[in-house]
Amino acid sequence: MSLEEAFEETKKELTITTDQLNEITNHFVDELNKGASVNGGNIPMIPSWVLNYPTGNETGEYLAIDLGGTNLRVVLVTLLGEGKFKFSSEKYPIPEPMRTGNSPDELFDFIALNLHNFVISQFGEINKIEKPLPLGFTFSYPALQTAINTGVLKTWTKGFDIDGVEGNDVVPILQNSINKLKTPINVVALINDTTGTLVASKYSDNKTIMGLIFGTGVNGAYYDMANEIPKLHGKLPDDIVENNEPMAINCEYGAFDNEWKVLPRTKYDIQIDNESPRPGEQFYEKMIAGYYLGEVLRLILLDYYSKNLIFKDQNIKPLQVPFAMDTSYPSRIEEAKDKSFIDELFLESFNIKITSIERNLIHDLCILIGTRAARLSVCGIAAICKKRNYTSGHCASDGSVFNRYPNFKSRAHNALNDIFQWNCDTKDYPIQLIHAEDGSGVGAAIIACLTEKRLEQGKSVGIKSKI
Ligand code: BGC
Repeated sequence: MSLEEAFEETKKELTITTDQLNEITNHFVDELNKGASVNGGNIPMIPSWVLNYPTGNETGEYLAIDLGGTNLRVVLVTLLGEGKFKFSSEKYPIPEPMRTGNSPDELFDFIALNLHNFVISQFGEINKIEKPLPLGFTFSYPALQTAINTGVLKTWTKGFDIDGVEGNDVVPILQNSINKLKTPINVVALINDTTGTLVASKYSDNKTIMGLIFGTGVNGAYYDMANEIPKLHGKLPDDIVENNEPMAINCEYGAFDNEWKVLPRTKYDIQIDNESPRPGEQFYEKMIAGYYLGEVLRLILLDYYSKNLIFKDQNIKPLQVPFAMDTSYPSRIEEAKDKSFIDELFLESFNIKITSIERNLIHDLCILIGTRAARLSVCGIAAICKKRNYTSGHCASDGSVFNRYPNFKSRAHNALNDIFQWNCDTKDYPIQLIHAEDGSGVGAAIIACLTEKRLEQGKSVGIKSKI
């Protein structure tokens, strides 16, 4: 096989046609419905117990933390009402060895210590704080919730693999680590980053219909009417049933098509899954999320090398290290105005000297990988729109791929138009991806505030048996 033939084959495999978009979206709607049914399905469709919409008039001072894929972020948010807020925050990179390990203590003590120091930097001495500070904990992993202040981790995603957390409620684990340092903090709400994004954006933009993350992982949240979620029938407390309140649903749709019925997975996607800490899970996420896009490129290049099509007579050992290329590689390569940047990148990072043909090939592969990710990404959006009959609105979007991967947004809009056939200018598309407000900080603060208010009013924040 020649290099051209190999590339044509890869191109075919990575290209998502309009017919495929439609087929995937329709199956996605079925899986969203199945996930919300009594028996459940691949997509967990987790009721978040974030009830009702924010009014924009919430006020007060709240702490928030966000345990994302790469960083821990600690935020002090002041909600000012009228859709306004101010905040100060700190970011702490999560040390690589803490992503895996045999006890939760290392990670959760690290969180508690940074939180403790942050509180001192904001408030001065701890003993001057009169009443415990309410904290919203953004935990961006699939955590099953029977109440707003609980979350039992279903499975780690995004390469995390720490023993002793799956199957356990992460809120007491965090609260214990906080208590060890005697920091006056109460964890009042556990929040997914998508739910935080949804609520933060709705606080200031009433047209928001969903909160989406396209980052290290992928996921979406939207509001459904609590009474219309079949798996909650008979489990909702009376006050929620009587008011038929809207509740944010954390879809956890990275798990879409784990049964592999429609996704056009390539041998590279299959290899990524097989070699991951949790094979058989997060099939959709593993094709489109930032944690994996660089790895797709690396595996394609290694495949071509093994067929003696590229990097002839070069020592490719540095490229053989799993995840040697993070997603900034395809992203920077596609973005490079001067293509000689690609030569430098391969030389500096992997000690590989590339030819001009290889340079163009790598660039074209990055376009294919990025375009596939963007096109597949909108199937989740289109499915939520179809399920909820949304014909217009803002999809509040955040995450490193959305914010930094070149052309992601325009490709996503094109794919949405392929599905919905609007036939108008992009700026007039009735459904738009909009850069989200700070979900993990402001969103978590608003949710902590909404929760406090509900509790003061004697309203429920969890399932019947919990009351
Ligand atoms: C997690 C979700 C999260 C998403 C984006 C996924 O791996 O399971 O909970 O919302 O990443 O951060």
